[in-house]
Parts: sequence; structure tokens; C-alpha cells
Amino acid sequence: MSQMNAAVVTSFAEPPHYMQFEVPQPTGAKETLVEVVAAALHPRVRSGAAGAHYTSSGTLPLIPGVDGVGRLPGGQLIYFASDDDTRGTMAEQALASTGRWIELPAQVDVAKIAAAMNPAMSSWVALRRRVPLQPGQSVLVLGTGNAGAMAVAVAKRLGAGQVIAAGRNAERLNPLLAQGADAIVQLTDDQETTNAALAAAAGEVDIVVDYLWGEPAAQAITALLMARADRSRALDWIQIGAIAGLTLALPSAALRSTNLRVQGSGQGSVSPTAYLAELPSLVAEIAAGTIPVAVRTAPLAEVEQIWNTPAPAGERIVLLP
Ligand SMILES: NC(=O)c1ccc[n+]([C@@H]2O[C@H](COP(=O)([O-])OP(=O)(O)OC[C@H]3O[C@@H](n4cnc5c(N)ncnc54)[C@H](OP(=O)(O)O)[C@@H]3O)[C@@H](O)[C@H]2O)c1
Repeated sequence: MSQMNAAVVTSFAEPPHYMQFEVPQPTGAKETLVEVVAAALHPRVRSGAAGAHYTSSGTLPLIPGVDGVGRLPGGQLIYFASDDDTRGTMAEQALASTGRWIELPAQVDVAKIAAAMNPAMSSWVALRRRVPLQPGQSVLVLGTGNAGAMAVAVAKRLGAGQVIAAGRNAERLNPLLAQGADAIVQLTDDQETTNAALAAAAGEVDIVVDYLWGEPAAQAITALLMARADRSRALDWIQIGAIAGLTLALPSAALRSTNLRVQGSGQGSVSPTAYLAELPSLVAEIAAGTIPVAVRTAPLAEVEQIWNTPAPAGERIVLLP
């Protein structure tokens, strides 16, 4: 069996090692072996590589990487999502499945597409497929990492009226005012002040795009609901990330005494077909520069060092095989 260079996880407690690994073989007509051009290091990739994502099967060894830009045997560039949690995209070659890729224009910035698709898709799909945003509706983005920062631009692009961004990191929060946010709220350890600021800035929002969950989201739910003039007016809470906690305690009264509607957006709650249908327009937005993307590229050979070095604020690392 032929070999390739790949990032390989041999223990869930260690970063991947750059080493030789078997080239994956297509198992049917739906799979195509592609040359990987660029694959990004998203939080989702880290949780998969740690065996901690809800889709993880616990199988080792594994090649991490959930998506990337690849080249079909005929030369066509594609953006593709990996179907397999053990044979991912952080390798010289990977399998792409029909219905899980879209063709890219030849001149596209491959690192930018690899960096932005996963974080940008999270809000794009949530606001088009889970709670379709109505023009003029107001949105609170909770959590201001790469995905949250992009969610501000996405919400505006999809026709939101007011967009409020809330996060703990002032360095990441402040630039969002220049990227479309109408207001920002810093989440601090002073809960009372934070809740009051959230209530004042976002008490009447229509939709919350939540990347945090855990205690910050629990606090925010109560702060927002208590602030609403009409508690029977719908508040759509879209759970997308759980960077601050996998669970939260929700008082039953929050559901009885208000019109809080909680749902998630991610793999499983939206079909692969629906995801695929959204991708071409998202590629066009990224290529046109309407969604801000900061990329840091590195050779795949450096994956082990890169894994242990946090990306500078606001940047997404993209590995080039
Ligand atoms: N469902 C989907 O479709 C989907 C798609 C993409 C991403 N996601 C998820 O969304 C989340 C965010 O992804 P990302 O790409 O934006 O990650 P990222 O770029 O690494 O950013 C993470 C952000 O979370 C902040 N943070 C961490 N702990 C926090 C806490 N306790 N309270 C407040 N903020 C906190 C960090 O703040 P600092 O800057 O202060 O460190 C950072 O700004 C992840 O859980 C990811 O898996 C879901």
C-alpha cells in the first residue's frame, strides 16, 4: 500500500505527529482520492483529535482535519468536508465524497477558504437554515473568537438590523465595532455588571448566536429574558459552540414564563444536503471579502509544534501539506 506524509494522532493525550501513513483507498464510486492543498486547525479539529467531539468513535490512530481545499485528479480545486473521523484532511491526500464538496474558482485564495469556511458556516447556516433571519431583526453574538467575529459580519450581510457582540476579550471585541457590530459588551467576572450591560444592550434582541454555552450563556439567558418588555415575544437562542461549558442549568421558569426557543445548529441538526447548498454563496462572500478572515499558514510538517502554540488572537492556522 502506498504511503503519504500526514499528521497522525496515536494517543488522545498527545498532539499529532508528522509521519508516514497509508494513503486512504476509495471504498466505492462516491469517494475520490484528492490532493490536499490546505486544511485549517479549527477547535472542532482539536476536539476530534482529542477524542472529545460528540461524533468521535474513539478509534486510533487517526488523521485529524474536518475539511479543506483539495485538488481533484483532473486539477479542479474543491472545498470538501471529511466524512471520516479517522481519515481526515491533515495529510497529503484525503478522500472526498460526492455530495460533500463544491468546486472552487481557479483564482481563489485557498488558505483563506480553508480558514474561513468552518467558522463562517456556523452562523451562515444557523441564520439561514435553523432560524432564518428576517430583515431588520436584531442579533446578539455570544463569544467573539473567529466564528463569533465572522458571525457579526454574516448577520449584517444577511440583513440584520442591530448586531451586538459579547465576549470576554477586549482585544477581540473592540475591532468588531469596525466590522459591523453596533454595540459590544465585555463579559467580565463581575456578573452583576455584565448582566446589566447585556440587558441594556441586548435585552430586546430577536436571535442569539451562542458559541459559549456553560455559565456565561446561563447568565445571559436570564439577563436577557428579565429585560424584555414583552416576555411573550420570541427569543430564538441558537446553540452553536460550547467553548465555555458543555452543559448549563436552565431554570424551568425561563421556559414557562417567556417565549424562549432553544435549538442548536451543527452536524446532525442540519442535513449534509442543506449544508452543501449553502456553500457556494458562502465561498462567494469570503472571496469578495465581506467576511473578515485572518490566516496564518504553516507547513503541515510543523503540525506538532503548531498544535501546542495557541494562534494569535483572531487568526486561524492553516496547514499546507
Ligand atoms: N456548530 C457548528 O457548526 C460550529 C462551527 C464552527 C465552530 N463551532 C464551535 O464554536 C466555538 C467557537 O469556535 P471558534 O472557531 O470561534 O473558536 P476560536 O477562534 O478558538 O475562539 C474561541 C473564543 O472563545 C473565547 N472563550 C473561551 N472560553 C471562554 C469563556 N469561558 N467565556 C467567554 N469566552 C470564552 C475565547 O476567548 P479569548 O480570546 O479570551 O481566549 C475565544 O475568543 C467552538 O466551540 C467551535 O467548536 C461550531
